[in-house]
Formats: sequence, structure tokens, C-alpha cells
Amino acid sequence: MEAHLTEWLNLSIRWIHMITGVAWIGASFYFVWLENNLNRSNPRDGLSGDLWAIHGGGIYHLEKYKLAPPKMPENLHWFKWEAYFTWLSGVALMLVVYYLNPSLYLVKPGVDLAPEMAIVIGFGSMICGYVAYHFLCDSALGKRPALLGAVLFVLIIAAAYGFSQIFSGRAAYIHVGAIIGTIMVGNVFFTIMPAQRALVKAIEDGTTPDPTLPAKGLLRSRHNNYFTLPVLFIMISNHFPSTYGSQYNWLILAGIAILAVLVRHYFNTRHDSSKYIWTLPAAALGMICLAYVTGPSPKPATPAAPKAAVVSPVQDGSQAAPVEASTASAAAPAVDSASTAVSDDFAKVYSVIQERCTVCHSATPSSPMFSAAPLGFMLDTPEQIKLQVGKIHAQSVASQIMPLGNITQITQEERDLIGAWIDKGAQIN
Ligand code: HEC
Repeated sequence: MEAHLTEWLNLSIRWIHMITGVAWIGASFYFVWLENNLNRSNPRDGLSGDLWAIHGGGIYHLEKYKLAPPKMPENLHWFKWEAYFTWLSGVALMLVVYYLNPSLYLVKPGVDLAPEMAIVIGFGSMICGYVAYHFLCDSALGKRPALLGAVLFVLIIAAAYGFSQIFSGRAAYIHVGAIIGTIMVGNVFFTIMPAQRALVKAIEDGTTPDPTLPAKGLLRSRHNNYFTLPVLFIMISNHFPSTYGSQYNWLILAGIAILAVLVRHYFNTRHDSSKYIWTLPAAALGMICLAYVTGPSPKPATPAAPKAAVVSPVQDGSQAAPVEASTASAAAPAVDSASTAVSDDFAKVYSVIQERCTVCHSATPSSPMFSAAPLGFMLDTPEQIKLQVGKIHAQSVASQIMPLGNITQITQEERDLIGAWIDKGAQIN
């Protein structure tokens, strides 16, 4: 029951997070586009440009003021709640997914880190990340945007590396996303909104607005703009175990972030030139390279050579070799033909899966954390196992992100056993 409630809580919060996030990033993309496409030739007095657009069956005419209209309108729309609610729902989602189940989702299996400590590090890093960023932007570096950008990039990837040492792959990625997201919303709350409020107030009071505030606001909103694509990737990254599940997940994230920033740069500059059009094919090529380097190695079983002893008696077909694994006996059918080795293999794999996986991946999970098989992925019968060997290999042999949090304490030998059985063709009888 509790698992079921958590699922619906997760669903509701995630949905809200997505809706507010779409509204925030959508508006942000729209205004960047607007700014880049303003017609600046011969603007009316006091305007910096205008733009005509058609959408949803209506024709719109938008005008941008150099500073402000002679008289402030009664109704001036502000864009901030989308950002605030995206952050709040994001933090709530972190709580439901990671902080309520830290040993399962947050802490990297095998790392000696108290779950409470992991939560403190996770949440604390969001806050510290923003504070560090804020001071860097306000320091002398703030006047050298390109260098500042490079420093920020290195720091963010350093955080990714640090997280990857103590957090599960998915948690490491999400926490990098959370730091960036917190910076973005912090920029709205602490810099951009105050700058806008000061501007409006100065205009209403008829005084000259302080020019430093808008300049700061501009730098921050430019950062936000470049952050969007990497953050969006991180938010969907949990679907892609070949990224977060890799040993070099932080490096892969760095690669994807660079590609994303390049592409964003092209879209940000294309109004006045196509100088950066090369970024599009470069990014596509980069994605192909990343797909290649994250691919399964042709011989996944080789690094496990020393442990081959466990498997080799079976591989050799030598029935005389004593098979110790107590778990293997139960399901082993008594077959005396040449296929013994094969069925023996599967019998062992089957019992490993029954012991280490079906706690969760079953029509009736025994784990209190799941009321149904996660992602509907079930490993109850030999046929189900046979059908999903590709996924089983990817998640429990190659990347080792399963079992989640290694809660069922699968051993390396058992992983190798599954790997060897799959390599040999995954026969179930
Ligand atoms: C503690 C519960 C738990 C255990 C034990 C567990 N898993 Fe999972 N598994 C999950 C959850 C939760 C997900 C869904 C992750 C997500 O939301 O992306 C998952 C997802 C998967 C997927 C992805 C399925 C898909 O359709 O994309 C595979 C494959 C998988 N697990 C294999 C295994 C194998 C093999 C084992 C045993 C060696 C195992 N799991 C043990 C909880 C578990």
C-alpha cells in the first residue's frame, strides 16, 4: 500500500514538475527567439524593434522598448512562478525518489556512506553550488564571460565526478542537474527579478535606473540559456543506463553537455550569421562517437578471466566438476544428454535471478518498496528471462546498475555467470 501511494505521489509531483518546467523553459526559449528576431531597422521612437507573428489563428504585433514606455502599463506580466514551481516540485521529487529510499537509489552500492550523510551531501550541494556560482559571477571573473563559462563547466564536471564516486549513477546525474537547476532558479530569484523590480521602480519614480543590475541580470540569464539543454538531458537521463550506468558516467555527461552548449550557441547566434552552423553536424558526430564509446565491449567476459574457474567446469562440459553453488541445485533438471552443460548453466542463472532480482522484478514482488514489477519488467519464468537477455546483460552485467542499490547483494561471480551464459547464446533448455 505504501509503495502504491509513493508511486502516485511520484507521479503527481513528476507531472507538475514537467508541466512547470515546460512552461519555464518554453517561455525562456520564446523570449530568446523574440530578442533574436526583432526587426531593428527603423524602429519607432523609443523602441528597439518590433516583430510580427502568426500563431493559433491570430496575428500578433510585439514591440520592444529601449527602456520603457512613457507610462508604465497597468498590467505588466512577469515570468517567475514557472521557475519557482519547477524548483519546488523538483526538490519534492528528489525527496520522494531519492531521499525516502537513500540506500536503494542514492548511495552507490559498496560505498561506506551513511544514508543520512548522503542526503546531507546531496541537498547541501545544491545550496553550496548556487552560493559558489553566485560569488564567482560577482568576482572579477564576471567581467570575462568566456573564462567564467569555462571555470563553471570544470566545476560542474568536478561535481559530477565527485558524485559518481559516492552516488548511484542515476543519483549522480540528477544531483548535477539539481545544482544547475538551483543555479538557474536562484538567478531568477536573487538577480533577475530584483533587477527587473529596480528597473520598474526607477521608471515609475522618474529616476535613472542603476545600470549594473541589468548587466548582472543579463549575464545570469545568458547562463540560464546555455544551461537549459544540458539540464533537459539530465532530466531524461534516467532512461539511459548506458550513460549514467557507465564507469565514466561523469565524462559522458561532460561530452553531452559540451554538445548541448554548442548547439544552443548556434541557435543563439543564427539571427546574425550562420557562423556556427558547423555545431549541428559536429554535435551529431559527437553523439555518434558517444554512442560508440558507451557501447558494450565486444568481449564483456574477458576482464573476469581470473574468476573463470567458477564457470569453466560447466563450459567444458565436464560433469565431474563439483558445483558448489547451493542455489544451483533446486531448479537443476536431471538431464543426462550432451545438453547437460547448457541446462546446468541456465539452472544456475535461473536461481541467481530468483534470488537477486525477482524480489522486485516479479508479478508479485516481495519487496515492500514495490507494489508491481518496476517498469513492468518481470523475470519470473525462463521464457521471460530468455526474451530480455539484452536488457539483463546491459543492466546487471555490463553496467551493474542492477540490482538497484545492490540491495540483494549479488556477487561478481554471479554477474559473470549470467554474462557467460548470455555470451554462449542464452539457452534455457
Ligand atoms: C530492489 C529492487 C530491484 C532489484 C532487486 C532489481 N531491480 Fe532491476 N529495476 C528496479 C527498478 C526500480 C527499475 C526501474 C528503474 C527505472 O525507473 O528506470 C529496474 C529496472 C531494471 C531493468 C530495466 C528494464 C527496462 O525495461 O528498461 C532491468 C533490465 C533490470 N532492472 C534488471 C534487473 C536484474 C537482472 C536484476 C537482478 C540481477 C534486478 N534488476 C534487480 C528494481 C530492482
